[in-house]
Amino acid sequence: KEEIRILAIESSCDETAAAVVVNGRDVRSNIISSQIALHTLYGGVVPEIASRKHIEKINQVITEALKEAQMTLDDIDAIGVTYGPGLVGALLVGVAEAKAISYAKKIPLVGVHHIEGHISANYIENKDLEPPFLCLVVSGGHTHLVKVLDYGKYEILGRTMDDAAGEAFDKVARAIGLGYPGGPKIEKVSHEGNPKAISFPRAHVSGDAYNFSFSGMKSAVLNYLNGCQMKGIEIHQADVAASFQQAVIDVLVGNVEKALEETGMKKFAIAGGVASNGTLRNAMEQACAKRGVAFYRPSPILCTDNAAMIGAAAYYEYIAGVRSGLDLNAVPNLKL
Ligand code: KG4
Ligand code: ZN
Repeated sequence: KEEIRILAIESSCDETAAAVVVNGRDVRSNIISSQIALHTLYGGVVPEIASRKHIEKINQVITEALKEAQMTLDDIDAIGVTYGPGLVGALLVGVAEAKAISYAKKIPLVGVHHIEGHISANYIENKDLEPPFLCLVVSGGHTHLVKVLDYGKYEILGRTMDDAAGEAFDKVARAIGLGYPGGPKIEKVSHEGNPKAISFPRAHVSGDAYNFSFSGMKSAVLNYLNGCQMKGIEIHQADVAASFQQAVIDVLVGNVEKALEETGMKKFAIAGGVASNGTLRNAMEQACAKRGVAFYRPSPILCTDNAAMIGAAAYYEYIAGVRSGLDLNAVPNLKL
């Protein structure tokens, strides 16, 4: 068959999303219903509220995705759905929906790993990108340095030992009064701050060459804020934000440079919500240019959670023969 049309569903956290993707890279629709405004009231994602909102929105986003792609379920060859990692109640909504459609319309089902989705977002706009390549996945729940050996084949070179990069952004943002979601807000105020104003530690994990640690950096910011308060020194929000952002970027770039050097890989991609950060994107681009490494990054809208990336990943699983049964379940701590 010339065209493999995948309906993809994503509901692992606070985005209810559906997309139609043809042959893994041709996005016909990409509908995202964000719950950010709702969770902002509580300063972070409230899992129970997320699940309920997914139930409310899921049929609507699927209907919209099919309509925009000018298709019906009868045109769809497979359904791809995120089954982990993520919030269990949130994941269950997407998985149950996908199974129901699969059963009712006899359409094959493909369970997709959320991180594999983030990585696969790079295939959508870079039609020539093929494994092997090195990929840094930086999101709210994950920080992984991954060698993409082939479609669906990964070797994890490094991961965070504590907080994810995005989690650190969110926690620091809260501490300096920026609120949720922290990443985009820190990036925005950083433009008015001096990244060299405060020297936060660049934490390197000894032993494991490519691992990360961000909780120490977050604590350093909290200690700095406490110190200022005790000494009656005025806190310059933009300087704290810019200096923290720079510290995180330096650590991420440092490990990537080391991995590029030691593996000799000639292609590098970034993925995940934090990869939408412009300063990080520029820093990575420069690091790659210095070494003659080709640099790939999805558009910001494909970095944060969406279903098009799930459709891209599902396609490569589908053509490799992967099929999920109606016993597919949500796996909150699914490993890559
Ligand atoms: O990939 P994603 O949408 O969801 C997860 O799978 O976790 O990532 C969300 C994370 C949040 O922690 C958010 O603060 C962070 O990505 N983020 C950013 C930016 N945009 C989103 N971090 C830094 N700079 C940004 N511009
Ligand atoms: Zn994600």
